[in-house]
Amino acid sequence: MPPHVWLISLKDLDEDAQAIHLGEVARMELGTGQDDFVGDPLRMMLTGLEEQSRMPYVIEENGEAVGVLTLQSGAATLAGWPDDDSVWLLRGFLIDRRRQGRGLGPAAAAAAVATAAKLTARRGGGQAGVVLSVNERNGYGLAAYRKAGFEDRGQYLGGDSGPQRTMYAAF
Ligand SMILES: CC(C)(COP(=O)(O)OP(=O)(O)OC[C@H]1O[C@@H](n2cnc3c(N)ncnc32)[C@H](O)[C@@H]1OP(=O)(O)O)[C@@H](O)C(=O)NCCC(=O)NCCS
Repeated sequence: MPPHVWLISLKDLDEDAQAIHLGEVARMELGTGQDDFVGDPLRMMLTGLEEQSRMPYVIEENGEAVGVLTLQSGAATLAGWPDDDSVWLLRGFLIDRRRQGRGLGPAAAAAAVATAAKLTARRGGGQAGVVLSVNERNGYGLAAYRKAGFEDRGQYLGGDSGPQRTMYAAF
């Protein structure tokens, strides 16, 4: 059975609960070379809390923090999408090194799409789906997003660590 994950919205927690979750995020680790593909998890969560367009989430399995991701509105061109506003951007996505390879990535990416659909339903905004960009050398990432139902929309040369694929999942 695929694992079940919860996305905990940091912006919806009080300061004490945020601090507990941020402490867990600070202990997360990446595998060798994976910092080519994603930033530091704690820094990305702190930036997410500060910026109005970003919704930072801690990924939990059985009450334990296993990863992070961020949904951002108005920024889809950063993933090679032709406009900023018609879809959500999924960024800053990682599963802790010690939990990788068990299907948590695909489960969390699918949960991110469901969560983005709910955000659009609640706030308006008119987004039709979720886009992301993933480095062509990131085999684990490409496989995980495909399993979560994302489709390849072509090459994107905008990143600073080599060619990316733009991947999209409609609501
Ligand atoms: C990309 C990522 C989120 C995938 O999450 P995950 O929970 O490992 O996803 P999965 O369990 O489905 O694994 C994906 C693929 O990588 C393989 N894999 C992952 N970790 C592995 C490991 N430690 N050893 C061997 N294979 C591994 C899986 O077997 C699977 O390949 P398959 O489709 O051939 O079976 C995770 O690897 C990660 O956080 N990577 C670093 C950050 C990153 O690259 N983020 C994405 C930026 S766009």
